[in-house]
Amino acid sequence: MRIETEISKVRAFLHRARRNQACVGFVPTMGALHEGHMSLIRRSVMDTDVTVVSVFVNPTQFAPQEDFEAYPRLLREDAIAAESAGAHLIFAPTTDGMYAPDASTFVTVEGLTEGLCGRFRPGHFRGVTTVVTKLLNIIQPDRAYFGLKDYQQFAVIKRMTRDLNLPVEIVGVPTVRETDGLAMSSRNAYLSPADRAAAPALYQALQEGAKAVREGASIEQARDVAAQVLAQVPQMRVQYLEAVHPETLEPADYARPPVMLAAAVFLGEARLIDNIVVDGE
Ligand code: PAJ
Repeated sequence: MRIETEISKVRAFLHRARRNQACVGFVPTMGALHEGHMSLIRRSVMDTDVTVVSVFVNPTQFAPQEDFEAYPRLLREDAIAAESAGAHLIFAPTTDGMYAPDASTFVTVEGLTEGLCGRFRPGHFRGVTTVVTKLLNIIQPDRAYFGLKDYQQFAVIKRMTRDLNLPVEIVGVPTVRETDGLAMSSRNAYLSPADRAAAPALYQALQEGAKAVREGASIEQARDVAAQVLAQVPQMRVQYLEAVHPETLEPADYARPPVMLAAAVFLGEARLIDNIVVDGE
């Protein structure tokens, strides 16, 4: 497997691959790869001929008070992991290589980015959509793989590629969890042992809420059920717990599924997000 930092070398490699009719799969990441990322890579390796994994901690999607500096950087370990999953190339650009000092062009998706995480992380999705557009332009993959753990990100990228006619299929991959239900995340490394022990309550709360809907409770009642589970963990600070329509991400102001229950909580310094979709009958 190759590791490239230069855009021109990645383009040359992919030019050769495409000349041989290879179908190209792409998995964008910020590194510190865990089993969640690995499931995306494995899926791409299964579906396509050449899999490219990008590892880039993108500064434009972090607000000044967020964890850009602290974000784990483990390129050597990531390369070993990606290779073991069958990836063909890691693209690990530098910040200067990705952004000209006077870069002034951004991609913005309206509407879908305004609720949920977007409400609390202004500018975050603009950073994500801009860097993903740049990465898609560099790699020009046939398919790109995104985790449903970051459901809003997946929905926003799908909308963006549709609206801009980008010639790529966006594939959503189910959330990979620890055995106690905690969604895998590079940010779980920030959890103290006590907070790690409390963290599964996030998914438990969403599961209880989803179960209530399936058993006939209204969406509003189900949200309250989930809120009660979260309230039992004193050190967990809830940023949001919402019930939204899984496609529009608008608040679910109706009683029956489809619905997505989504939450963001803080445990110490770590911000964790998770969601469950309950399909309509
Ligand atoms: P990152 O947080 O590294 O995640 C990279 C990809 O892995 C995303 O598509 C994310 O949804 C997926 N992922 C993370 N945890 C997962 C889990 N437990 N199960 C399944 N998939 C999981 O998301 C980003 O990076 C960035 O915003 C990026 C898209 C790379 C743009 O900078």
